[in-house]
Amino acid sequence: NWTMDGFIDEQIEKIRQEVGDRKVLLGLSGGVDSSVVGVLLQKAIGNQLTCIFVDHGLLRKDEAQQVMDMLGGKFGLNIIKVDAQNRFLSKLADVTDPEKKRKIIGNEFIEVFNDEAIKLKDVDFLAQGTLYTDVIESGTETAQTIKSHHNVGGLPEEMHFTLIEPLNTLFKDEVRELGKKLGMPHEMVWRQPFPGPGLGIRIMGAITEDKLEIVRESDWILRDEIAKAGLEGDVWQYFTVLTNNKSVGVMGDYRTYEYTVAVRAITSVDGMTADFARLPWEVLQKVSSRIVNEVDHVNRIVYDITAKPPATVEWE
Ligand code: XMP
Repeated sequence: NWTMDGFIDEQIEKIRQEVGDRKVLLGLSGGVDSSVVGVLLQKAIGNQLTCIFVDHGLLRKDEAQQVMDMLGGKFGLNIIKVDAQNRFLSKLADVTDPEKKRKIIGNEFIEVFNDEAIKLKDVDFLAQGTLYTDVIESGTETAQTIKSHHNVGGLPEEMHFTLIEPLNTLFKDEVRELGKKLGMPHEMVWRQPFPGPGLGIRIMGAITEDKLEIVRESDWILRDEIAKAGLEGDVWQYFTVLTNNKSVGVMGDYRTYEYTVAVRAITSVDGMTADFARLPWEVLQKVSSRIVNEVDHVNRIVYDITAKPPATVEWE
C-alpha cells in the first residue's frame, strides 16, 4: 500500500539511479511545487543540483529573501539568484495591456533563465514541479497559458535536457504533505497561490517603481493583519490591487488627491470559481486604516465583493 514515506524513498532511489554522477538544473519560483522538488532533489543528489531563482522585482515584500534564507540557508540548496528587476522594469515601461504584460514577463523570464543556464557546464537534466493535474490539463489552452509563467519552457535548442518531474503523479495536497514530510515549514507548504507575473498584474496600467512600492507595502499589511487574526487557513487567496484611480480625500487641513487601493480576499477550491471572503469588519477596518496611514499616496480603500464568475480573481 502507498505511503508518503514509501514514495519519498522510491523517488530518491529513482532520481539517484537516473542521474548518477551528473548534474541537474531547477528553476525555483518560490512557489510550493518547485520548492518541494528542490528539497527532494537536494536530499537525493545534494550539490549535483543547481537552482536558478529569477527575482523579477515583482515579488511580494521580503519574498526573495525568504526563499534564499529558507531554501538556500536552512535546506542548503545551491541557488543562483538573478537580480533582474531592472531588466523587467525597463521592458515593462509604459505597458498597460494585461496580456502584453504577461507575455513580456513570461518571455523575459525565459530569457533571463536561459542566460544563466547557458553559463552552466555539463548539465544533463532539467527538473520541474509539474503536477498530475498539469499533466492531465496540459491539452487546454488556459492551463498552457497559466503554466507558461510557472514553468520554464522554450529552452535553447542547443541545450538538450532530460526532464525530471518527480511530482507528476501527485495532486497539490499530496505535494504539501510531501513538503511537510521533508521538513519544510508550514508557511512554505501552505503558501497561497501567487501568479507568475506577480505584482505586475496587480497594478492597473503601467508599472513603475513607485506603484510597486504601494502594492507591495499594502499587500504586506493585509497579510500581516490576516495572520494576526488567524484567518490564513480560511481564505484561499488575499492581496491588494493598486487601481489606476485617484480620488479626493482629506487629511488634517488638506485636501488630498491620491490612489485607491482595492483589497481582494476570496474563498475557493481551485481558483476556477470563487466567492469573496466574508472577512470580519474589524479586520477590514484595521487593514484600511493601516494602509492609508502607512503607505504613501493612498487615501481610499475599497473591498472587492465580487464572485468569480463574473469577475476573475485577479484584476488583470
Ligand atoms: P483569475 O484571475 O484567472 O485567477 O480568476 C485564477 C487563479 O490563477 C492565478 N493567475 C495566474 N497564475 N499566471 C499564473 O501563474 C498568470 O498569468 C495568472 N493569472 C491569474 C490567480 O492568482 C488565481 O489564483
